[in-house]
Amino acid sequence: MRGRTLLLTAGDRRGAAALAVKLWADAARRALRRKRRFSVAVSGGRTPLEFFRALARSRPPGLAHTHIFQVDERFVPRGSPQSNYRALEAALLRPAGVPRANVHGISPEGTPKLSAARYEADLRRFFRPRRGCFPRFDLVLLGLGADGHTASLFPGAPALREKRRFAAAARQPGGLQRITLTLPVINCAREAVFLVTGSEKSAMVREVLGGGGKVPAALVRPHRGRLVFLLDRAAAREPLAA
Ligand code: 6PG
Repeated sequence: MRGRTLLLTAGDRRGAAALAVKLWADAARRALRRKRRFSVAVSGGRTPLEFFRALARSRPPGLAHTHIFQVDERFVPRGSPQSNYRALEAALLRPAGVPRANVHGISPEGTPKLSAARYEADLRRFFRPRRGCFPRFDLVLLGLGADGHTASLFPGAPALREKRRFAAAARQPGGLQRITLTLPVINCAREAVFLVTGSEKSAMVREVLGGGGKVPAALVRPHRGRLVFLLDRAAAREPLAA
């Protein structure tokens, strides 16, 4: 594991969520001091939900200047129980009162490719990256699948090879179409945090921390940023011998 990598372990899911709230607040304060705005991209799935609810209760600093993007989204209507946006809105955006203008969701309309292109246009408008450069998030919050996927970058996916675009259409093996940030954007972040809980992830956590071969999560290495693994004890545990 190259670069600055920090491993934090909490006793349980609630403790991991509390640590994630502190990481968010610290990153927000640094960003707001530097440039009066805080840009963050959050993943979907189940793991971050406890964190989102704890964050909403914590009254995080600088919410009026915080811009929340999605790391990825399933290509389903926003009203679908599988929508990451729907879960994010219920757990964080609404209870914390995040201004609507500060929310940059992936809109699952038209086709996945069109949706990815629209999202890329939103990213360009907000970050205004120089030619050939990528949006540089202050914080990207990632999950980890037991198969080593992160965002909606699944093992062997063509989106893993994307070198130019900021967002891409993807597909969960045997599952939903998705839209995802690409690795160049994730690796441009000032800080990328894997929030991983549960014993079912412990084997993959070990693999990724050990260098992880070519699983997608092992390709997350912020070029000019910090990589944090924030685990609960169950995910940090040495996997039981098979
Ligand atoms: C998604 C997520 C995905 C998630 C991992 C872990 O849309 O499902 O972005 O990448 O982070 O699959 O999911 P859980 O947190 O539900 O285990």
